[in-house]
Formats: sequence, structure tokens, C-alpha cells
Amino acid sequence: MRSVLTTLATGLALSFALTSAPVFASENAAHGDAEAGKAKSAACTACHMADGNSVVPSFPKIAGQQPGYIAKQLADFKSGARADDTMKGMVAALSEQDMLDLDAYYSSQTQSPGEISQDLGESALAGETIYRAGLAEFSVTACMACHGPDGKGLQPNFPRLSGQHTSYIEKQLLAFKDGSRSDSMMNGIAFPLSAGQIKNLSVYISGLY
Ligand code: HEC
Ligand code: HEC
Repeated sequence: MRSVLTTLATGLALSFALTSAPVFASENAAHGDAEAGKAKSAACTACHMADGNSVVPSFPKIAGQQPGYIAKQLADFKSGARADDTMKGMVAALSEQDMLDLDAYYSSQTQSPGEISQDLGESALAGETIYRAGLAEFSVTACMACHGPDGKGLQPNFPRLSGQHTSYIEKQLLAFKDGSRSDSMMNGIAFPLSAGQIKNLSVYISGLY
């Protein structure tokens, strides 16, 4: 009986912690505090906007991203595992707690709609086929297996792609392909893709909901 109750209590505590992580911030340093993150985000607004919905294509939208992904990217920029001259300077002074707080803030924001491409024809259609079915002849797994059928991402650390700027998605896929951005999963997936297939995927994904 005791173990059943303990299991039940742990389960309840866990689901509560997962749905309301910021509440636990002061008691548990492993969680971010969205309010604290908002206060720390002033330096980010010039490029990512106050709510994380950047309007400039070279600056990615970070609003509504999967919890945990932003903190991982900030840590990667700081360690140099992900190279970007602009972001390297932005994260230099951030502590681990700052990263968790910024993560909690931006992931709690609502993402603005993506670009509806002028090219909704063949390009987006070809991108959709790869997104949903992969490329069997090159052992490329369907993107939706990890990023979700609607592109909103999956826990843990499979980022949201839908609604993102087309040119940013394209740049990242090219970087995974040539290895300048490294990730154990994405390098193998992007490597066999042609520049044309990457373009098609980017057009499709930014308009996906
Ligand atoms: C001067 C402009 C600028 C400022 C200010 C800035 N960023 Fe960025 N940020 C960028 C650019 C450019 C990229 C894309 C880098 C690339 O192409 O890989 C980026 C990428 C990111 C990413 C990765 C997004 C993804 O989808 O992988 C995160 C997270 C991020 N920034 C968070 C922040 C935070 C938090 C701050 C404030 C502490 C900040 N940025 C300030 C320009 C900026
Ligand atoms: C096996 C799981 C998996 C599959 C399948 C997969 N991805 Fe990913 N993807 C990831 C992970 C994990 C990351 C985050 C990498 C990191 O932490 O830097 C990622 C990151 C990305 C990013 C960068 C997002 C950003 O905000 O910077 C893009 C773009 C992307 N994937 C596109 C695709 C496309 C297109 C496909 C299909 C051709 C695909 N992925 C298939 C796991 C996967």
C-alpha cells in the first residue's frame, strides 16, 4: 500500500512539476523561471523581438520553442559546440540558471504564424513528401518522426520547426549537411539531401501548422 501511495504521489508531483515548472524555480535550480527570464531577455529583443517572434529572417523565432531546446542551444553557443559569432558574444556572460530562465520565458510565448510562401506549388509538395515519408533510398528518416506531424517538435530536445523563417531553416540544414553545425542525428539526415531538396523542405516547413 505504502509503495502504491508513494508511486502515486511521485506521479502526481511529476506531472505537476512538468505542467508548472516555473512555480518550482526557487526550490529547484534545474528549472527555469519565466518571469526571471523575461527580465533577463532585454538584451535579446533587438534581434529576436520582445516575445521571441523575430521578424527578420536571419534571426530565428524562438517563441513557443520546445522547453529545454533553447537552454541547450545557449549552452552550445557558449561552449563553442555550435558556432555563431553573434550568439557567441550574447551568451558569454550567461550562467546556467540564466539559460534556464530564458528558456522558460521564450518557450511559454506563443509563436506567430509562419511565412506563407509564394511558392505553394511543386516545391512545398516535394518538401512535404520528404517531411512525411523520408527518403528510403538514402535511409533518411521522415522528419515528422522526431519533429512531429505538425512540426511543433517533441520532448525532449526535438525542436519546433513549423512557422520558422524559410531562410533560417535552409541555412541550418546546409550547416548540418556540411558539418559546420554538428548533431549526432541531424548530420546523417541532412548529408544526403541535395540543395534543392533542402530548399523544398524549408519552404514546406515554414508554412506548416
Ligand atoms: C544581434 C542579434 C542577436 C541578439 C541580440 C541575440 N541573438 Fe540569438 N540569434 C541571432 C542569430 C543571427 C541567430 C542564428 C544563428 C545561426 O544562424 O546559427 C541566433 C540564434 C539563437 C538561438 C538558436 C535558435 C534555434 O532555433 O536554434 C537562440 C536560442 C537564441 N538565439 C537566443 C538568444 C537569446 C536568449 C538572446 C539574448 C541573451 C539572443 N539570442 C540575442 C542573433 C541575435
Ligand atoms: C532522429 C530524430 C530526427 C529526425 C528524423 C530529424 N531531426 Fe531535425 N533535429 C533533431 C534534433 C535532435 C535537433 C536539435 C539539434 C541540436 O540540439 O542542435 C534537430 C534540429 C533540426 C533543425 C534546426 C532547428 C533550429 O531551430 O535551429 C532543423 C531545421 C531540422 N532539424 C530539420 C529536419 C528535417 C528537415 C528533417 C527531415 C529531413 C529532420 N530534421 C529529421 C532530430 C531529428
